[in-house]
Amino acid sequence: MFPNTTITCIEDFRRLAQWRVPRMFYDYADSGSWTEGTYRSNESDFQRLKLRQKVAVNIAQRSIRTRMLGADVAMPVAIAPTGLTGMQHADGEILGARAAEKFGIPFTLSTMSICSIEDIAAHTRQPFWFQLYVMRDRDFIGRLIDRAKAAGCSALVLTLDLQVLGQRHKDIKNGLSTPPKPTLANILNLMTKPRWCLGMLGTQRRTFGNIVGHAKGVTDLSSLSSWTAEQFDPGLNWNDLEWIKERWGGKLVLKGILDAEDARHAVDVGADALIVSNHGGRQLDGAPSSISALPHIVEAAGKDIEVWMDGGVRSGQDVLKAVALGAKGTMIGRSFLYSLGAMGEAGVTRCLEIIANELDITMAFCGRTDINDVDRSILLNPQIFDKPGQA
Ligand code: GLV
Repeated sequence: MFPNTTITCIEDFRRLAQWRVPRMFYDYADSGSWTEGTYRSNESDFQRLKLRQKVAVNIAQRSIRTRMLGADVAMPVAIAPTGLTGMQHADGEILGARAAEKFGIPFTLSTMSICSIEDIAAHTRQPFWFQLYVMRDRDFIGRLIDRAKAAGCSALVLTLDLQVLGQRHKDIKNGLSTPPKPTLANILNLMTKPRWCLGMLGTQRRTFGNIVGHAKGVTDLSSLSSWTAEQFDPGLNWNDLEWIKERWGGKLVLKGILDAEDARHAVDVGADALIVSNHGGRQLDGAPSSISALPHIVEAAGKDIEVWMDGGVRSGQDVLKAVALGAKGTMIGRSFLYSLGAMGEAGVTRCLEIIANELDITMAFCGRTDINDVDRSILLNPQIFDKPGQA
């Protein structure tokens, strides 16, 4: 049995999720592409930034509230779009969206979610954000955008770094599919996950809710990797953003920016925010960590666009460091998935509480009382990532 641990940090959730979630889906979340070097450096580069302790400052009144895309948020954190979330825990996207709403932070639903856009709209009151992958079938993409509009989504998060799929060894070895294929190895593994199985038996949501039955000729998705290889559009380019922006007509966020030139393209396109992201180290292995890329993207982007980051955020300290280097917001993917897989909605709520508390206390140790006043001066070595490729 899993030792009865009190959950005090995201690593506790990771270990519990590993215990409770079937291997195929746990591995999907907890993996990067090829050598996983970028995946690891997303986390380890945060550790290279050193915080400047300040004492005897009146820190009695503190606030970590801020704004993202013009809306109030309880802290500069949003839940990132993550594929197959409803396979980490039954109805995972609904649970995550509810926890985010109650906490007062944005939730982003992935195109590759299990629960559909309409499911989330039916179970929440606040608008959520929808993440879009551009596929070859442009009619389908147009309809997806219309569905997100009809559901009242308040931002479209367009992911630009998955036109081709970075090879993730574990997914291939595990034969990742939804639902899992009934091989002997899968059956034996599922037998050790009774809680997960019971949850799945209690829901109808077991395949890609936004796609199956909506995209022409797609009735099931037995192999995720071959399906994405066939469907995702490698022809996507900056010119396509015009019609997407026009069809959507609302706030647009571009995700997957790691390059200063691309940051300027994002500004030219008129996006409202960009996300410095290497897709959690799941796409181009060998790309810089997100935190190390952040300072020059902030510099290149200027003032006309909000800059956020994701990748490696596992604590409130990481959030604070990202804000110090110029991020207006951060996104959590794995921290969210581990807590969801471990303990469902209560886990996600606890995860957000842990991150908020770490952020608040660390800010206080640095002698600051308002997250909106945090800048590079809370770091002893903010310059270590000033030149691209230094990490
Ligand atoms: C999709 O978003 C993935 O990274 O698998």
